[in-house]
Amino acid sequence: MPIPAILDCDTGHDDAMAILLAGRTLDLRGVTTVHGNAPVENTTVNTCKILELARLAHVPVAAGAARPLKRRLSHAPGVHGATGMDGPDLPAPSIRPVGESAAGFIARMAAEVDGLRLIATGPLTNIAEALAAGSGALESRIAGVSLMGGAIGQGNASAVAEFNIWADPDAADLVFRGAAPVRMVGLNVTRQVAATPDRRRRIRALGTRTAVAVADLLDYFSDRLQRRYGLPGASMHDPLAVSAVADPDVLRFEPMKVDIELRGEHTYGMTVCDHRHLSPDAAGMVRQRDPLEPPNAEVAVAVDAERFWTRFIDVVATYP
Ligand code: BDR
Ligand code: CA
Repeated sequence: MPIPAILDCDTGHDDAMAILLAGRTLDLRGVTTVHGNAPVENTTVNTCKILELARLAHVPVAAGAARPLKRRLSHAPGVHGATGMDGPDLPAPSIRPVGESAAGFIARMAAEVDGLRLIATGPLTNIAEALAAGSGALESRIAGVSLMGGAIGQGNASAVAEFNIWADPDAADLVFRGAAPVRMVGLNVTRQVAATPDRRRRIRALGTRTAVAVADLLDYFSDRLQRRYGLPGASMHDPLAVSAVADPDVLRFEPMKVDIELRGEHTYGMTVCDHRHLSPDAAGMVRQRDPLEPPNAEVAVAVDAERFWTRFIDVVATYP
C-alpha cells in the first residue's frame, strides 16, 4: 500500500522532480505551496503546471504562506530564475488551487488520514503554522516529516546555512523542536546526487513531453549550479526527501540532536547537527557510540545515488 503523503513545496526545478516522484511512488493526497524559490504566487502556478503536464490534475493544490514567520522575505532568482522555474516553456495551467489555505489543508488531512507523512521541500512556514494552530494534537496525528533542508557542513544560502532553513529559521526551529518525527535530508547527501549530462541525456531520450520538460528543467538548473558552485550537474535535493519516505534504502540516516541557529552573526540559519557520536570521517559517518545529546531528528548521512537515478528515470518514463 503506498504511503499517504502531502508534499509542501516552493516549486522550483527540483521541487518539480519531487512532485513527479511522489506522484508515482506515494499516495499523494495534496501539494501545498509556500514562498521560497520565488513568490508563492509563482510557486503555486509552477506546481499547477507540473501537475497538469504529468496528468496529475486530480491532486489538490493548496496555496500557503507568502512570507516567513518573522524574518525578511527572500527568493532565489539566481538559481531558479525569475519565475522560480525558468527553462521549459510550459503552458499556463487550467488547474486552480482549492480555496483552503495550505496550513488548513495540512491540519484537516492530518485529522482525516491515518499515517499521513509530510514531505517538505521548501521553507517550513506552512508546516510550522499548521503545527502551531493544532497545539500538539496535530503532531500526534502525523507519522513523520521528511524535509529537504539543512546540511552537515557546507551551506548554499551562506557558508553554513542551507536555503530552505535559512529562508525561515523560526519555522524550522518549531518543526525540529516539535513532537512529530523528523527526517532531515540535507546538502551533505543531496549534492552527491548530480544530474550529470549523461543522466540528462538518458531522460531526454525517453522522448515524452514530461521527459523533455524534465530534461529542460535539469539543463537549466545544472547550468546555474555549475556556474555558481562548480557542481557536475544539478543536485537532486528535493526528490530525495520523497525517496526518504517512498524508498528509504536510497539513504542512510543516523539519529542526532539538531538545533537551528537563530541568532549567529555568521551562522544564522545553520542546522547545528551534533554528530559527535559518528566517526570523524565525513565519507563514512559511521556510528561509534550513542548520541551525546537526546536526538530530535534522523539525519541523512549517506546516499545511494545509482539506486536513486534508476528509480527516478523509471518513474519519469511512466509519464505521458
Ligand atoms: C533547496 O533550495 C531550493 O533552491 C531547492 O528547491 C531546494 O529545496 C536547496 O537548498
Ligand atoms: Ca525546494
